Amino acid sequence: MHNLHDYLEKAKEENIAIGHFNISNIEALWAIYEAARDLKQPVIIGVSEGERKFVGIKQAASLVQSIRNEFDYPIFINADHTHDVNGVKECIDAGFDSVMIDGSKLSFDENVAMTKEVVEYAHHIAQEESRTVLVEAELGYIGSSSALLDKIPEGAGEDKTTPEIAKKFTEETEVDIFAPSVGNIHGVVKSGNPHIDASLVGEIASASDAYLVLHGGSGITDEDLRAGIEAGISIVHVNTEIRKAFRDGLEESLERNDSVAPYKYMDVPRQKVYDVVYNKIKLFAGL
Ligand code: G3H
Ligand code: ZN
Repeated sequence: MHNLHDYLEKAKEENIAIGHFNISNIEALWAIYEAARDLKQPVIIGVSEGERKFVGIKQAASLVQSIRNEFDYPIFINADHTHDVNGVKECIDAGFDSVMIDGSKLSFDENVAMTKEVVEYAHHIAQEESRTVLVEAELGYIGSSSALLDKIPEGAGEDKTTPEIAKKFTEETEVDIFAPSVGNIHGVVKSGNPHIDASLVGEIASASDAYLVLHGGSGITDEDLRAGIEAGISIVHVNTEIRKAFRDGLEESLERNDSVAPYKYMDVPRQKVYDVVYNKIKLFAGL
């Protein structure tokens, strides 16, 4: 079984992106795994601070690892948007494949210092335990909620990442994966999400050695996503569209099913999540 680093290298070479999908429950995890399996693509499961508080840190890691081991499948787990070093360490110790230390609201120097501390710890543990632990960091505020939004949150997306600052940040921190602000914002804006600046993505990709990740993958047009991937994005994060699909499916299911057995009404939300993820992976992999 190859590790996440190998799959990222392959994605970069082939100019495709790996899908990163957030979960809050096992129904979404199964749906994401099944969609990836049906398209024969590696996949990353994300759990942010709130999501892993709900699911459990060790439990989330074990669930993903159990699917990976039972089906010999490249499914990985990332500690998404983690705002403090201790939170990241807890996830690394629980066996996560990658962690995102989110210092995007801090000053550049504070962000660098916190990211460096995480990189040192992750790489030290990886070496000690002979496994791969990748670290991701972000520059530029792009909003913070995976939700349906009436308008773009104050200040989000305004501070776009320049190639110069991306180079300086990734060189100083030696971070493996880098999340720039290139027009992307978290959540789905009712009147439409902003466009992705694909030429800026291309310039950042040339300036930095880190793998590039696009956050806020919901609400972006297929054309913009493809342009971003072709310009150098290797991972795309999607959450809001999954949450909406799950909720819509649950409402639909409860309306026409009066069973009290969860497995009899959780099938529709699971299927709706599968459909969203299947279409995204197909697009990200250029299938
Ligand atoms: O880290 C999670 C993602 O960036 C999700 O963004 O909710 O806009 O898809 P999204
Ligand atoms: Zn994000």
